[in-house]
Amino acid sequence: MKIDIRPYKTEDTQIILDIINYNIVHSTALYDYTIRSYEQQKNILDEKIAKQFPVIVAELEGKVVGFGMYSEFRFREAYKYTVEHSVYVDQNAHGKGIGKILLQELIILAKAQGLHTMIGVIDAENKSSIDFHEKFGFKTVGIIKESGYKFDRWLDSVFMQLILE
Ligand SMILES: CC(C)(COP(=O)(O)OP(=O)(O)OC[C@H]1O[C@@H](n2cnc3c(N)ncnc32)[C@H](O)[C@@H]1OP(=O)(O)O)[C@@H](O)C(=O)NCCC(=O)NCCS
Repeated sequence: MKIDIRPYKTEDTQIILDIINYNIVHSTALYDYTIRSYEQQKNILDEKIAKQFPVIVAELEGKVVGFGMYSEFRFREAYKYTVEHSVYVDQNAHGKGIGKILLQELIILAKAQGLHTMIGVIDAENKSSIDFHEKFGFKTVGIIKESGYKFDRWLDSVFMQLILE
């Protein structure tokens, strides 16, 4: 099984959109209600790249099956060494080590950019993502209760943090 990581290219937008929209419709991993259009997703990705933030994709046997990125945690200047990241893997490719390689690469890139800490904001129901982040040393540093509302129920947001050396 060959997994390659490379920077995002415009041609990857549709597969990223498909993964995002699957999670919007079927999960609480994203707090959106409505699926995104191609243009909306492309603008989100272009904006991150324009700000010098990385967007990376994972290819399994030559096919894009996941992606990762980070960008500002909050916008005030003093937050400039802190980023919020996300990692998504196609639902048919979970458990093959793809998320792990993506997050490892994001951590390397964040260190190379001189960043100090990474934050993942994860829905409390998303146990697999919480377990996944714990494997990398992320610690739960806060839970914002009933901060989301989706699928007719309140959702808690778990803030997980990794301090980069
Ligand atoms: C969370 C997610 C990115 C993990 O990606 P993945 O490719 O399935 O995970 P990997 O196969 O790389 O697993 C990496 C580690 O996490 C652990 N892990 C992954 N899924 C897990 C699960 N459901 N339960 C427990 N541990 C899990 C694995 O055991 C593995 O540990 P190991 O290296 O000690 O064996 C993926 O499930 C996903 O895309 N989920 C939906 C979107 C999401 O929630 N993203 C996170 C928001 S930031």
